[in-house]
Amino acid sequence: AELIESETSLSLWPGSWFQVGNNIRKEGLLLSEFFEPGSALKAMAERSHDDIIEEITASGLKGRGGAGFATGMKWRFCRDAAADTRYVICNADEGEPGTFKDRILLNSHADTLFEGMTICARSIGATRGYLYLRGEYRYMLENLESTLQQRRESGLLGNNILDQGFDFDIAIVVGAGAYICGEESALIESIEEKAGIPRIRPPFPVTQGLWGQPTVVNNVETLVAAAGIVLHGHHWFETAGTWQSKGSKLISVSGDCGRPGIYEYVFGITVQEILDDAGAENVQAVQIGGPAGRLIAADHFSHRIAFEDLATGGSFMIFDESRDLLEIIHNFSSFFAHESCGFCTPCRVGTTLLKNGMDKVCSGHATAHDLDELSRTAALVSRRSHCGLGMTAPNAIRDGLKYFPDCFEKRLLHKEMEPEFNLDASLE
Ligand code: NAI
Ligand code: SF4
Repeated sequence: AELIESETSLSLWPGSWFQVGNNIRKEGLLLSEFFEPGSALKAMAERSHDDIIEEITASGLKGRGGAGFATGMKWRFCRDAAADTRYVICNADEGEPGTFKDRILLNSHADTLFEGMTICARSIGATRGYLYLRGEYRYMLENLESTLQQRRESGLLGNNILDQGFDFDIAIVVGAGAYICGEESALIESIEEKAGIPRIRPPFPVTQGLWGQPTVVNNVETLVAAAGIVLHGHHWFETAGTWQSKGSKLISVSGDCGRPGIYEYVFGITVQEILDDAGAENVQAVQIGGPAGRLIAADHFSHRIAFEDLATGGSFMIFDESRDLLEIIHNFSSFFAHESCGFCTPCRVGTTLLKNGMDKVCSGHATAHDLDELSRTAALVSRRSHCGLGMTAPNAIRDGLKYFPDCFEKRLLHKEMEPEFNLDASLE
């Protein structure tokens, strides 16, 4: 990968460093693009809201939070919903372990982000927007507020933006550290000063969102890309990527590699190419999309990062052969048991059962029967949970059992022995 920019000051973990790589082209990608504040708004000024939504739709932009819903369609649904008041929310509650790609956009490209929110607002007919900032990113608040203030003073935010008779302003709400508040309806509840419990969807926020009004909730990266599309036109974006995944994707690379950091790739890059760029060797597994995503083995390293193949919100965690995958899966199961909001039984009870099951496997007390039980519970939690957290919480266990069965089997109690006997023996 070509190194576009590097710095050592940004580090999530001691020793990690920051890199933006681009293996296909340097022109026109999000992080390499110089952005003059107000330039995308000026490009938008002469155009109708329909034109803008058409431009976003034609670009093929899909949601960068992980799910990949078509952005133009989301804006269209919101615009068409009957209401006097609409809202734009930027989901900056970047909580997926291993994902830290929105951090650079908030840190270094906040103007582009606010421009993306303003363009969305004008397109859907909103006058108010919220940036929901991850609690752990509170240290950015001052800079973000000051960027907003500068935009107000420059006529790019507030009343009568660019003398176009359009009013829009943005407020920042800081989360309190709950992972579930990254789920859009829990996030909306949180802005409404209620507990972050996911709503029943449908209705989706585009028709009934913040305070019951039509609301677009987009990820930081999506809104930054939208500003770029309005500035450069949809061809700039749609010519990069695969037929179902247009444009580029920011990937947060961490774990066992020589060059961890944030990389920007055009969609279609293979897992192996990213591993090579990151200087990873003897790789046993990669966790794509965080603990809620997929744990893949070497057989899958030829797969591509794309919505039609391996979709990801941005996390790419590398584990080499020195790692005990069972401990990693155990760690993920503890994370979900802790972060479950407790609203629905399959997830509240199920994530704890999965964690307990992994405790048993890791302590060497489990039998083959326990693995069956783990597998059945994982399937039930995936199928029956109320929201995405519960639906995806068992993914690492399921992938582990499927692709790395040896890791589990070698920790089982010896088959000929009675479980009770061994349990007692191990306590001695
Ligand atoms: P989803 O597929 O239910 O919805 C995605 C978006 O499309 C939402 O904004 C939703 O409102 C909208 N949508 C879906 N169907 C719609 C319809 N028929 N009409 C109108 N709008 C519709 O996915 P969900 O549960 O919102 O998000 C799950 C994703 O979030 C996963 O892919 C996961 O990887 C990712 N995630 C990302 C994190 C991060 O830090 N970026 C953290 C945790 C999860
Ligand atoms: Fe809460 Fe989990 Fe149910 Fe989602 S699936 S509502 S996080 S208990």
